[in-house]
Amino acid sequence: MTQKKKSPTALLAIDRAMSTPLHRQIYERFRTAIEQGLLRPGDRVASARSLASELGVARGTVEAAYNQLAGEGYFSPQGQAGTVVSPSLPSPRSARRTSRQAEARAAEQELAAPAPPPPLQLGIPALDAFPRKLWARLVSRRARATTAADMFYGDPSGHPLLRTAIAAYLRVSRGVACHPSQVFVTGGYRASLALISHALLARDDRVWVEDPGYPPTQEVLRSAGQRTVPVPVDEEGLVVARGMRKAAKAKMAVVTPSHQAPLGVSMSLARRLQLLDWASQAKAWIVEDDYDGEYRYAGPPLPALKSLDRHDRVLYAGSFSKVLYPGLALGYVVVPDALRGAFGEAARTGSNGCPQLTQAVVADFMHEGHFSRHLKKMRLLYARRRHMLAAALLKAFGNEVRIDLQGGGMHLIARFDRRREGDEELARRAQRAGLNCQPLSARGTASFRDAGLLMGFTNIGSAIHAQQLATMLRTALDRKP
Ligand SMILES: Cc1ncc(COP(=O)(O)O)c(C=O)c1O
Repeated sequence: MTQKKKSPTALLAIDRAMSTPLHRQIYERFRTAIEQGLLRPGDRVASARSLASELGVARGTVEAAYNQLAGEGYFSPQGQAGTVVSPSLPSPRSARRTSRQAEARAAEQELAAPAPPPPLQLGIPALDAFPRKLWARLVSRRARATTAADMFYGDPSGHPLLRTAIAAYLRVSRGVACHPSQVFVTGGYRASLALISHALLARDDRVWVEDPGYPPTQEVLRSAGQRTVPVPVDEEGLVVARGMRKAAKAKMAVVTPSHQAPLGVSMSLARRLQLLDWASQAKAWIVEDDYDGEYRYAGPPLPALKSLDRHDRVLYAGSFSKVLYPGLALGYVVVPDALRGAFGEAARTGSNGCPQLTQAVVADFMHEGHFSRHLKKMRLLYARRRHMLAAALLKAFGNEVRIDLQGGGMHLIARFDRRREGDEELARRAQRAGLNCQPLSARGTASFRDAGLLMGFTNIGSAIHAQQLATMLRTALDRKP
């Protein structure tokens, strides 16, 4: 009889029917975990007593495995302090591999460690300017005050304090009048769009999306089964007449009216009214993605499209990724009053997955006035950083570059019209040098013809830093592949 080769996972299972004794199976679980790097030198392991009760075996069985692991140098008993994986063990990377196969398996299983965003990264706020000390204070105050109610499942529509804070902020700062019960907290813009699709759309429904636009919008809608209809954008925003020609009976339009992503234009009043008019005639919905409407450098932020919505066709989607930081993974959608029930139901089915503690801290940050202070500071800082990057690019490239400094937002568009290479090639060269420039042409469909490099300016630390980056970029773009 040929013996079947055991997979590593089979080796990990405790199986009473196996001929391998239980203490040996436990020993092998630990050894494999250490060899695969799941347990690292210095990691504490469970006490023999608690592991025995977890696995439903006698304490002596676990102790026998632990003794063997200690005897072979895998474990280091620390007396009263328990047992740890021997700190002197080599890390699994440098440890000798038994075979090429094992090496390949380990590489496959290795997860990428989080890395800070590269220079010129689009769409992130100034990470150096976030008030971390204040944030830490608010987090620990909330954590200390945790009650039994806070530890229970939260409302899937969002923490009531956060929904109230968002409604107050929108009314004052974005001209959006809504009741907290119309605000649904989500895990960010994509989650908001998925929730909207779940609550309002059917398979094969057609949805207008901007061309060029924000690629995740299409990705989310398509994965939910909807058909996206790219509609061109000009200097006044989405060309509504073109949308009506392509798909007058579409069920929804997703737009970025404050600051079109990625061109940066603001939708004109005429277009806003035209879009609202179409939606009310066609009984279609409009999703207003107001991802960075707070950031305008000339004059006050523009009122939201939602503030003009007399027929209740607009769903307003906001995100904390740009105004606080993306790792929070928090966004929200404001829905017309008549849709509260449908969204409450959809939120219950999906559960928003947003931790109660984080939501409560964001609510405190808003209620206590830190949010508006932070935004005001960031507006001034970004205006300076935007200017620094533009000046440095002009110095490095002279009249070879044309810079599109939009009225708002967190990125600029640099156009290198005289270069023969397309923007995708230029972006590749920049990225090879570690600069995360993105090609504008990749954000549109085949009919969109405009090229340039999108560059985030929010994390430019100083004028010198900007000059270093611009010089690096010049060298990178001049380098032939
Ligand atoms: C156009 C647009 N909408 C929305 C978002 C926010 O997305 P999220 O909340 O998933 O971070 C971004 C972020 O880059 C964006 O560029």
